Amino acid sequence: MQLRLCKLSDLKDEEIKGFDLQGKHLIAIRKGNEVFVLDGICTHEEYDLANGFLLEDRVICPLHLSQFDIRTGKVVNPPAEKPLRTYSVKIVEGEVYIEL
Ligand code: FES
Repeated sequence: MQLRLCKLSDLKDEEIKGFDLQGKHLIAIRKGNEVFVLDGICTHEEYDLANGFLLEDRVICPLHLSQFDIRTGKVVNPPAEKPLRTYSVKIVEGEVYIEL
């Protein structure tokens, strides 16, 4: 199912923004004209990653500093062990769509 997330212009470059869509909490990260969308809840102790920060291609949970790759969702640094789910993104005429 393809769903509209937001306008590309709603996302600032290098910023993490949270969204609630279809009962899921997601984060979107824009890097130039690319957008990455992942589950927005840390797999360690369920902290909201919209409050996290970005370091290169990693999102960092501020609670215990787990790091996740924004492209794959894989854990780069513990204590989290489980990856974040990632969603495929399409940008069409300035609108961001994801596949749920
Ligand atoms: S809740 Fe995210 S690292 Fe612990």
